Amino acid sequence: MEITISEQKIKELIRSALAVRENAYVPYSGFMVGAALLTEDGNVITGCNVENASYGAALCAERNAVGKAVSMGYRNFRAIAIAGGMKDGISDYTYPCGICRQVLAEFAGDTDLIVISARSKTDYKIISLSELLPEAFSAKDISVNT
Ligand code: THU
Repeated sequence: MEITISEQKIKELIRSALAVRENAYVPYSGFMVGAALLTEDGNVITGCNVENASYGAALCAERNAVGKAVSMGYRNFRAIAIAGGMKDGISDYTYPCGICRQVLAEFAGDTDLIVISARSKTDYKIISLSELLPEAFSAKDISVNT
């Protein structure tokens, strides 16, 4: 995909995702995830995963970030950085789960969302949401004006 944000913004998003990952509440899986959304007007909104003794009630970092951002009045996002891994470190690139892909698609606006998966500040991969979720089901399919 064509990358339309600066290297500096990418780094800022990764730094934010890594920082908020430290707040992950993960007593059950031990898998800590941080996410940082870039709004269309340049703000960065973060979220971490929050687990629960009733496992199915766990909240993913990405959806937490989206919920926080929307409740702050932001609805259009250009990019999201994600950093996920066990407590002792990040070994793999983490990409949003299926439900989070769908939720991100809701607020991706007219342009594709840039998804940055980071293992560290300098080690990351970039992919677009439409590559992760092609032919997304959306408001257009149910003829509803949002
Ligand atoms: N998790 C996320 O926060 N984001 C993802 O994209 C994948 C999974 C969380 C949910 C749960 O707290 C833990 O990672 C293990 O599944």
